[in-house]
Amino acid sequence: MSSVNLTDRIPNNVNLSNDRTLQRALEHWQPHFLSWWDEMGPSEFSQRDVYLRTAVGVDAEGWASYDYVRMPEYRWGIFLADETPDRRIGFGDNYGQPVWQQVPGEFRSQFRRLIVTQGDTEPASVEQQRALGQTCPSLYDLRNLFQVNVEEGRHLWAMVYLLHAYFGRDGREEAEELLSRHSGDVDKPRILSTFNEPISDWLSFFCFTYFTDRDGKYQLKSLAESAFDPLARTCRFMLTEEAHHMFVGETGLSRVIRRALEVMKELGTDDPAAVRRTGAIDLPLLQRYLNFWFSSSLDLFGSEMSSNAASTFANGIKGRPDETLYTDHLALEESFELAVPHGDSGTTTEQVPMRNAMNEVARLAYVKDCEMGLKRWNMMIRRAGHELQLSLPAVRFRRSIGAWANVPTDPQGNRISADAYAHGIAGWLPTADDRAYVQRLMQRVVTPGKMAGWLAPPDRGINNKPGDFEYVRL
Ligand SMILES: [Fe+2]
Ligand SMILES: [Fe+2]
Repeated sequence: MSSVNLTDRIPNNVNLSNDRTLQRALEHWQPHFLSWWDEMGPSEFSQRDVYLRTAVGVDAEGWASYDYVRMPEYRWGIFLADETPDRRIGFGDNYGQPVWQQVPGEFRSQFRRLIVTQGDTEPASVEQQRALGQTCPSLYDLRNLFQVNVEEGRHLWAMVYLLHAYFGRDGREEAEELLSRHSGDVDKPRILSTFNEPISDWLSFFCFTYFTDRDGKYQLKSLAESAFDPLARTCRFMLTEEAHHMFVGETGLSRVIRRALEVMKELGTDDPAAVRRTGAIDLPLLQRYLNFWFSSSLDLFGSEMSSNAASTFANGIKGRPDETLYTDHLALEESFELAVPHGDSGTTTEQVPMRNAMNEVARLAYVKDCEMGLKRWNMMIRRAGHELQLSLPAVRFRRSIGAWANVPTDPQGNRISADAYAHGIAGWLPTADDRAYVQRLMQRVVTPGKMAGWLAPPDRGINNKPGDFEYVRL
């Protein structure tokens, strides 16, 4: 195992102290990162002790330690998963050859663009979530928000390390730019549009961590297959942290549902208006939030047919999530059957060369992963004796990118007229009324062990702490 240096100014397991130039460059970037955190992160809590997990190594059991930390003093470090001896390229034209420890010149700009795009989402999400601390539903949730935030900060470090270490001056400039674009900024917005929407309520935060962080998981899984080994190793380690973000989303939404079911039982009705009168979140409202967040996260995978996806696959830059599960790693002979809009109201299928359909392959793997939570939630709802089932809308619904962009469909994916869409959308997406109601629920609860009335307590505490543990000392 690579040894971890925790005494350096920047904790790392990449032998940073052996490369003075790189170390100096990163130590120069560090104060810029800290002032970004101070300006754009959850700064009103900067003097508070937060019970956080910090990465101190990369092996299975010892990779994280828990303690109270003030967030600006969090030990943001550079951690790569251990090297796989004799690792070979697992897909594309160079299949079977040894992986690269440097970026080949001809793929430099493709790699740089991917790393910058990934890197840009990390600080963007911290910026989007910066106001949430003011309305936390409990100390437990507040702590989880901050855990996600510091780890997104560390993910930025992970990408900045690659830019500094492997992309020379261009990389250093890109690293600065990552701190100068801001979520929602009119002049210098973040690269991807989903990351420019503020997340102003906790229901959106749980949807974001369930759906949008899961997109992140699938991007990281694709990059973890990369022929450029330092990128693959960095992404493999990031995935261990990412799992917690999805845990926050899945358990958050589960607790919202559990609370709704409790209230429905007490009231003896599933009438949304009655549920709302008790201060819980009715399930039809939740369904509209799911429709919104799922459809906007789908766009992050790009177009179904993409020559860019074909070339990043061919070149070994980005594989399929879990590439080892496939048998044909060249993907030259196969084709992919794609349903696309046809004429004014029809649909037709097209045969697309498999390499061109890699975005869609990743998207479908993502959809399957999203469905797992829904199965569990629907089980809870059925067990409580209710007919209503939550569902994910069709992948064609409300798309802005790809073959179905701006093609009106209902949530089941049936093509409908523009009028019918304009009429239906009010019932399919959160209404102004829904959002105002959710906003009214956002009241700060910070007594240890207490929960806001719109969600149930968690099953267990972080690191097995008791229910009334003081996760944040305010
Ligand atoms: Fe991340
Ligand atoms: Fe994340």
